[in-house]
Formats: sequence, C-alpha cells, structure tokens
Amino acid sequence: MNSSCTTRILGLGSHVPSLVVDNQSLSKSVETSDEWILSRTGIRERRIANEDESTSDLALGAAQQALSSSGISPSRIDLVIVATITPDMAFPSTACLLQHKLGLRKVASFDLEAACSGFLYALDVADAMLASGRYNIALVVGAEKMSSIIDWEDRTTCVLFGDGAGAAVVGKSREGPQLLGFRCGADGANPELLYQPAGGSKSPACSATLESRGHYLKMNGREIFKSAVRVMEMATRELLEQHELEASQVDHVIPHQANVRIVESLANRLEIPLEKFYCNLEHHGNTSAASIPLALDEASKQGIFKQGELGVLVAFGAGLTWSATLVRF
Ligand SMILES: CC(C)(COP(=O)(O)OP(=O)(O)OC[C@H]1O[C@@H](n2cnc3c(N)ncnc32)[C@H](O)[C@@H]1OP(=O)(O)O)[C@@H](O)C(=O)NCCC(=O)NCCS
Repeated sequence: MNSSCTTRILGLGSHVPSLVVDNQSLSKSVETSDEWILSRTGIRERRIANEDESTSDLALGAAQQALSSSGISPSRIDLVIVATITPDMAFPSTACLLQHKLGLRKVASFDLEAACSGFLYALDVADAMLASGRYNIALVVGAEKMSSIIDWEDRTTCVLFGDGAGAAVVGKSREGPQLLGFRCGADGANPELLYQPAGGSKSPACSATLESRGHYLKMNGREIFKSAVRVMEMATRELLEQHELEASQVDHVIPHQANVRIVESLANRLEIPLEKFYCNLEHHGNTSAASIPLALDEASKQGIFKQGELGVLVAFGAGLTWSATLVRF
C-alpha cells in the first residue's frame, strides 16, 4: 500500500466536564459501595456534565483541541461526523450544531449512531469518503452526555457511565498515525440487551413512557459482558488476519473502556499481555462513543506510542455493534 495515500490522524483532542463524581458519592443516592463498583468494573470516578452542558458543547471542546493539535485551519475541514447516542436533540444532528459552533464552512455534517462502536465506525466512514476523492479533511468526533439517559435510581447501570468527548482530524498526509484497516460488524438479533426503549417512533414520548422510565438506558449486564469479549476478540482476530499479522506483533490495544474485567478477558483470549492495553476507565467510566478517542488522546499525550508501532483500536456497543481499526503510529 502506498503510505502517502492512506488516511492519517493529523490531530487529536478530548474534553470532559469538570465535575468529578466518585463511587463514594454515588453510594449516597443508590445502594452501592466503592468496593463493589471498583472490584466489579475497575471504575473509581466519572465526569458528569452540568445541566447547561450538552453533547455538542463537549464535542466543541474536543474538536477545538484536535484542530489546534493538527495545525490545520478550520477552513480546510470539509466533512464533520459526530458519533453519539446522546445527541443534543433528535434532529438536527449534533454535527450540524458543532459545525456552526466551530464556525466551519457549510460542509457536509452528519451524526452516526453505532453506540460505543460509533467513533470507530465514523473513522471507517470518513476513510471511505476521503478515499472517494470528494472530501479532503474530516473532523471525526465521539461525544456523549450519558448522564442524560442514565436512570440515577438504577444501581445496575448508573455506576458504569460518564460524560466526555474525543475528536480526531483525519486526512491524506505523509505524516501522522496511519489508519491501515477497519473491521465493522453488527448483529441486531437482540436489541433489548442494551437499549433506550422509549422516545423513538416505536414508543413515542408520553406520560406512560415517563412513568415506566422508558427514556433511560436499560441493560442485561451479564449477557453484554459475554458478548463484548466474544465480538471484540473476533473483530481483532479478523482484522489481524486480513493484514496477515500475528497478535504478538501488536504493540498497543486501545479497547472500549467499559469494564476492566472485559479488558482482562480480552487480553487473555487474544494472548496479548495486559500491559499493552491502555485503560483510563478508572477515571472516566464508560463514555460510549467518546471512550476510544478519549483514551487515544490521553495515551498519545502521555507519549505512549512510538513511531512505527502497531495499534489496534477495538470497540463493542449496543446493537450489537463492533469495530476494530488498525493503526501504524
Ligand atoms: C454490569 C456488571 C458490572 C455487573 O457485574 P456482575 O458481576 O455481572 O454482577 P451481576 O449483574 O451478576 O450482579 C451481582 C449482584 O450485584 C448486585 N448489583 C448490581 N449492581 C450493583 C451495584 N452498583 N452495587 C451493588 N450491588 C450491585 C446485583 O443486584 C446482584 O445482586 P443479586 O445477586 O442479589 O441479584 C457487568 O455485568 C458488566 O460490566 N457488564 C457489561 C456492561 C457493559 O459493558 N455495558 C456497556 C456496553 S457498551
């Protein structure tokens, strides 16, 4: 493959709300404990947006940072994709709102919904659109205000999630981490494993849906846990196979940040040492579509990636969806 023709990451950025909510604080509102949450998930704290902060505000902070780190003038962006399941509103898209807030030209802007796999799906879509030659530089964002769809009375879910955003400026260039390959998939057979039942066309908002708390996220944690490990292993193996690579050649894995036990099981199954997995879920919880770009940006700022090293970004989410992306740093 001609390396000058592949899509590269030109800049990264992230943004999280300032309010830190630790496990101890949650134990004051639901029957839980720091010990339970930490031992079952690895999460100690999460960032929670205030009432005035919406997903597009979080996306704005991350996008501004990514643009500034790329050194690319915002006027050169000609495509905006925001991956989210917590848009500011059902429509217009959060990407349109972000385009205006950033003062970009009137370029193609749309949201992509693939839950926690959303950012990697969006990178795949951006790469294909850039490859078409009709777009040059894309802004790809994963942003979520998960706190807006969390049932704060449900201890089985409210301890798991957090708010935040991560962004990447991607385009054809001779420098920067190369996006070498993608593997996206989905299985819509069991949507109720992880879903928000009400508020869509199947169950529009009404007093009954409010009463049944149908506007909040519902999850079968145990089944999702098993599926997560299975599909992330599958996606990673297929991606490596496609590129004739062995798991032993992978230098870094940036997994979706849902539960440290999921990451440990994945490392075990792939026989990739846990030390190669970057985890920041201890401080952020599961930020859904923001999880991978947030982790990627943090790891990158810590100087973890050395030039020439190989990385796998891998996610799973509601749908079920999954996605794995191969990166040469
Ligand atoms: C949610 C999750 C942490 C639960 O861990 P688990 O070990 O499977 O725990 P279980 O669901 O079996 O629950 C065990 C017990 O703890 C209780 N429990 C659940 N949440 C609790 C909490 N926050 N605090 C204290 N106890 C809790 C349960 O009620 C259950 O009690 P019971 O045995 O009396 O019924 C785990 O299943 C998980 O991480 N799943 C994947 C979730 C995920 O990644 N979602 C996002 C996908 S993108």
